[in-house]
Amino acid sequence: MKHERKKITVVGAGFVGSTCAHWAAAKELGDVMLLDVNEGAAQGKALDLYEASPVEGFDSKVKGTADPKDCANSDVVIITAGLPRKPGMSRDDLLATNAKIMKNVCEGVREYSPNAVVIVVSNPLDAMAFVAKETLGFPKERVIGMAGVLDSARFRAFVSEATGVSVKDIHAFVLGGHGDTMVPMPRHCSIGGVPLTEMLDSATIDAIVDRTRKGGAEIVGLLKTGSAYYAPSASAVQMAEAILKDQHRILPACAFLEGEYGVNGLFVGVPCRLGGNGLEKVIELELNDTEKAGLENSISAVKELVEALKTLDY
Ligand code: 2OP
Repeated sequence: MKHERKKITVVGAGFVGSTCAHWAAAKELGDVMLLDVNEGAAQGKALDLYEASPVEGFDSKVKGTADPKDCANSDVVIITAGLPRKPGMSRDDLLATNAKIMKNVCEGVREYSPNAVVIVVSNPLDAMAFVAKETLGFPKERVIGMAGVLDSARFRAFVSEATGVSVKDIHAFVLGGHGDTMVPMPRHCSIGGVPLTEMLDSATIDAIVDRTRKGGAEIVGLLKTGSAYYAPSASAVQMAEAILKDQHRILPACAFLEGEYGVNGLFVGVPCRLGGNGLEKVIELELNDTEKAGLENSISAVKELVEALKTLDY
C-alpha cells in the first residue's frame, strides 16, 4: 500500500520561510522541504522543527536542503527568498536584488517541479510575481502572489480591536498592489454579516485604513532589523492550504489579470477563488467611483514598478 503525502517546498529559510514551514507542518498539510542557498541554514531550522513534531504531535516530515533537486515534484512551492526591508526602505527598493534571486529560484522550480502551484511572497510582491511567471512559463492558474490575505488580516485585526468582535467573524478585502497605494475596502468588510460602515464611524474607519496601508512599515519600524513574518507566513500557508485541500476559498491574492478590472498583463491584488488547480477564478466586484480611483492609482504604481523591472538586467 503506497500513500503519498502532499509535498510543500518553502524557498528561503529566513524568518518568513521558516515560519511558513512551521505553520505548514503544524497543520499537517504534507511533508515540508525547506530550501536555502546558505548551506546549513535550511537543514538546521528544518531539523529543529522536525524535532518539535513529537512534542506538538504533527506527522509532517520536515527536511532542509541547499539542493533544489531534493524539492522535486512539489505540489506547492512557496517562495520567500530575497532581502527584507530595513527601516526607511520601501518594498520597491528591493527590486533589482530580489528580481535576480527570484529568477534563479524559479529556474530550479521550473526544472524540478513543473506541475507545482507557486505562491510568491518576496517583495516587491507584484513585480516578483511577474518575474516568477515570466521565468517559470507556467499558466496564470499556477503562479499566485501573497499579499491580500496579509493586508486583509491586518485590516481584520484592527477592526476586531475597534469593535471588540472576534477576528473569526470579520471578513475583509484589501485590493491593489502590496504597497502604500493598496486599497482596503471598508464597504466590503462585514462583521457577522453587518457592514463595517454601519458599525464604526468614518474617522475610525479612515484610521484603520491608513494603519492597514502602513502595516508592513509599522512592523519594520519596530523590529528595525527586518520585516514582518508571522502574519505573512500564516497568510501564505492559508493560500497553500486552500490549494492542497481543494477548498475553493475566496481569498484576496495577487493574480495575473487578462482583462479583469480593466488590467492586462499585470499582477494585481484581487479577490480570487483558490482550489486544487491554484487560481480558479478572479472575482470581479462592483466598485464605486472612489474604489475604482483607488484601484487605478494602485495599478499605476504596479505598472511603474514593472516598467522599472523591464529596464533591469536580472
Ligand atoms: C509586509 O507587509 C513584509 O511586505 C511584508 O509586512
